[in-house]
Amino acid sequence: VAHLIGLKDLSKEQIIQLLERAEYWAARPTEQADILRGRFVANLFFEASTRTRFSFEVAQKRLGAHVLNFIPETSSTVKGETVYDTIRTLEAMGVEAAVIRTKKEGLLQELAESVDLKLINAGDGTNEHPTQCLLDLLTMKRQFGKLSGLTVAIIGDLRHSRVLGSHLHALPKLGVNLLLSGPATMMPAHIPQGVKIVEMEEAVQTADVVMMLRVQLERHAESLYLSKEEYHKAHGLTLDRAKMMKSGAVIMHPAPVNRGVEIHTDLVECETSLIQTQVTNGVAARMAVLETLLKGSEMTWESSLATAT
Ligand code: CP
Repeated sequence: VAHLIGLKDLSKEQIIQLLERAEYWAARPTEQADILRGRFVANLFFEASTRTRFSFEVAQKRLGAHVLNFIPETSSTVKGETVYDTIRTLEAMGVEAAVIRTKKEGLLQELAESVDLKLINAGDGTNEHPTQCLLDLLTMKRQFGKLSGLTVAIIGDLRHSRVLGSHLHALPKLGVNLLLSGPATMMPAHIPQGVKIVEMEEAVQTADVVMMLRVQLERHAESLYLSKEEYHKAHGLTLDRAKMMKSGAVIMHPAPVNRGVEIHTDLVECETSLIQTQVTNGVAARMAVLETLLKGSEMTWESSLATAT
């Protein structure tokens, strides 16, 4: 794999290989390696982020890389320099990987054809957020010991979710049953075959994983027609709906969370919530991605590990 643009481009085997490596790192939460010692990687976030940006930085530092954090507002992009020219500039300095978050869907795909460094998609518009999807899969795999045969319900603002964009590609490849539920005005433009649209109650009652999505007001062309309270009552994970979840089922959310809107505030950190665990697993998933792109094959991982330890 030359870049990580989206789960659309990865085979089932490639996803499983990344998850196996992520499990390796998840089982070693305090291990510091020098697999990327002396190598330069850059983080370019043209949209706001807390989790993705910092967990990439933690992952990069855990692997021993030198980390450059690009700040768009003080960069030459304000003088009109394009992202392509910015990447070529970083390449000329020896930067080997760029983690990019952008509003522009498909930007990374365009860049991939003309740059040499490794591109990692940290979210492009409403298209894909592949490392969020990988950390979600890692969280499910660690919780249930398997992925195939699970039922995952993704609920809420489906239309604007790049997390859903990645899951729509990944979950069917891995044999996971996918249920979608949300307001009619927030349905995705394309729903692949085999993915079921259900009422919220059915989704909550049947799923092993109830994954709530934030209402992404910043991407809505028009203001929400409901108040936050009305949205919560009609489409949110209320305390009453959470009681309908089957035994052993868990709550997930990519976060940031709008407490009291798509999810009741008491459910964010309740016993069945894995929201904090998802954040923790984000570091391991991103370590696996960086390592895979920059080191290559499994053989190389093994030899790198032997050198590192
Ligand atoms: N889940 C996620 O992408 O969070 P951030 O926007 O904080 O990175």
